[in-house]
Amino acid sequence: MPDPDDATASRIRTLVEDFEQVLFEFIRKRQINHSEYRVATDLIVDSIKTGEETLLFDVFFEAEATDVGNIGREGSPEAIEGPFYLPGAPMLTGPLHVMPQREDEKGEPLLFHGTVLGVDGEPLAGVEVDLWHADADGLYSNIHPNTPDFNLRGRFTTEDDGTFRVLSILPPPYEIPKDGPTGKVLRALGRHFFRPAHLHVKLRHPDHEEMTSQLYFKGGEYLDDDVAKGVRDGLVIALHTVEDPARIAENGLDRPYIDARYDFVLVPASAARKPT
Ligand SMILES: [Fe+2]
Repeated sequence: MPDPDDATASRIRTLVEDFEQVLFEFIRKRQINHSEYRVATDLIVDSIKTGEETLLFDVFFEAEATDVGNIGREGSPEAIEGPFYLPGAPMLTGPLHVMPQREDEKGEPLLFHGTVLGVDGEPLAGVEVDLWHADADGLYSNIHPNTPDFNLRGRFTTEDDGTFRVLSILPPPYEIPKDGPTGKVLRALGRHFFRPAHLHVKLRHPDHEEMTSQLYFKGGEYLDDDVAKGVRDGLVIALHTVEDPARIAENGLDRPYIDARYDFVLVPASAARKPT
């Protein structure tokens, strides 16, 4: 067996040479001339200059790479991370966690709850859940101006019985930034800029593989027409409106809220996939 460094170098060589061949064939097949070639390289340079390089590639290709990672995966399906993740979100206190938000945060209250399990069905305590999502205007803190730092971004850990409960607001569908190079390409393709409403999550536990996913809402707009093509079976959850005053009070609220539940299954770290 080669040592890991040799294996990595060999993998890189295989991928780059393969990619090179695919592009050679594409250039010949489509008779790409030099000015068309330069338009393509300028697009990549522009995406970097405008800070959109992640957005440009994520919108078109991230879901495909995530699907490859889901092949043969025993745990919950993973979904795209997207370009708006930030590490270091505030740690929240529980057991009922409340996402960082403005005093007058717009939007319907959302109680997101569930259990994190291992593939053996046993609940997992102490799993770090890192949750982030858009505000009621479809904007992300630390990305779009005029939102407080780490607004609607928070981390918390599962209880001894593997459960978690967090209060936030229901995010809406939103348009991805459309005034830069990514928007220019989508416009040229005649595509819209919307993503369906979703929650982003990352789950971490020392004995399990870290997972990244998204949860979408049944009946929501753009589920079948997501600009980032990120929606997958098993990631669309039902929403229920809760009007029972006792349950409203139990969750520290003063008005009806939306209840959303999802149980995650984590894969043991020993089962980590190796590239082939
Ligand atoms: Fe998002």
